[in-house]
Amino acid sequence: MLPRYYQHYCPVKILSGNNAVSNIPYEMEVLGCRKAMVVTDKGVAGAGLITIVKEAFSDAHAQIGHIFDETPVDSSNRLVNKLAQIFVSEQCDCFIAVGGGSVLDTAKGANIVVSEGSDDILKFQGNEVLKKNLLPMIAVPTTSGTGSEVTKVAVIYNEEMNIKMSFVSDKLYPKVAVLDPKMTMTVPPKITAATGMDALTHAIEAYTCIQKNPIDDIFARAAIELVSTYLLRATENGKDEEARLGMANASLFAGIAFSNSMVGMVHALAHACGGVCHVPHGIANAILLPYVLEYNFEKVSPDIAEICPMLGGAPEQGETKHQALQTISLIRQMQKALNAMSGLPLRLRDAGVPEDRIPVIARAAINDGALIFNPVEAEYEDALGVLKRAF
Ligand SMILES: NC(=O)c1ccc[n+]([C@@H]2O[C@H](COP(=O)([O-])OP(=O)(O)OC[C@H]3O[C@@H](n4cnc5c(N)ncnc54)[C@H](O)[C@@H]3O)[C@@H](O)[C@H]2O)c1
Ligand SMILES: [Fe+2]
Repeated sequence: MLPRYYQHYCPVKILSGNNAVSNIPYEMEVLGCRKAMVVTDKGVAGAGLITIVKEAFSDAHAQIGHIFDETPVDSSNRLVNKLAQIFVSEQCDCFIAVGGGSVLDTAKGANIVVSEGSDDILKFQGNEVLKKNLLPMIAVPTTSGTGSEVTKVAVIYNEEMNIKMSFVSDKLYPKVAVLDPKMTMTVPPKITAATGMDALTHAIEAYTCIQKNPIDDIFARAAIELVSTYLLRATENGKDEEARLGMANASLFAGIAFSNSMVGMVHALAHACGGVCHVPHGIANAILLPYVLEYNFEKVSPDIAEICPMLGGAPEQGETKHQALQTISLIRQMQKALNAMSGLPLRLRDAGVPEDRIPVIARAAINDGALIFNPVEAEYEDALGVLKRAF
């Protein structure tokens, strides 16, 4: 049945395939840009990935004006402001973000500050508060998880308040997303596993949340099937080019889905685990996903049941609830396999969460915007219950 109302938007040009990076200078020219600021981090630069981007510019008119590689894990407000200042003083005219979600969101944040002619990202927190169109951004994800290359979201850590803030606007979509398997082959197994579970969580939350719609269901479905086919393969053998490209596409499809449908309680709790205890985003999602599906079970078991064949389970066997339980069990099997391959933690206690911080995390989670879209309402006690079960 169609929802009474829905909307869908994704204005991003997508390049996917081996050597897609070589098209970046051409795309810059199409966008009317000449001098790019490359944003990255030490891990990505150390893996030799900026060299690949520089090679693409060897005989191009467009040029790289400055390379900024100081992005920390989880972008921060002060760093975003510093990057914006450098961008202006180097007279660049577009961003090329080469990295995981932390890098992509840092570039998005700096783009807000530069384009609004401001000096402080904190003035623009919230939903659709941006007034000016942003400068062009080309996003080259080097992890397969956040989908930030096709989302209207930037998540930035507020150093003064110890919370992760969301910036949401249709103006935040990058102009071009470049998926090239060369750029993800160096991701270590545990980060491959964690980021892949972030993508799976985006797709499953998009498919089960209150804003789900028929177009994003198609993207979520395709993403879940790709994760089911390729995540274990990519974690086991990082050089498996087909699996890497499969996961890059899974992440992108899931990003399109959740940027429109939104997410839910898994993300609300994961943001809080990140803000309070610095648990990496994908690890927190991976641990919490089955527990939140159990919490949401009575309300959305038909949707959860539909996911079962997407994860390789037998279709249409027995009752809906039985099938929905099988979906959760297949997710747990996938987690156990990833744990054996890469050490991906299965419980919050193994991910650096001290038991006495759980009430603080629960309190932060109930103020997170993602919770609004969860199919079952949740109060403090409910969040606490899920966190305790996942501990
Ligand atoms: N904007 C969105 O729509 C959105 C969605 C979900 C999450 N996020 C945010 O994204 C951030 C997490 O991003 P992430 O999970 O991609 O991790 P990340 O960007 O923090 O990177 C994790 C680590 O992996 C390393 N790395 C990245 N690519 C590599 C490569 N190819 N080879 C070797 N090392 C590599 C990095 O150097 C870093 O140390 C969080 O801040 C989260 O809140 C944003
Ligand atoms: Fe996420």
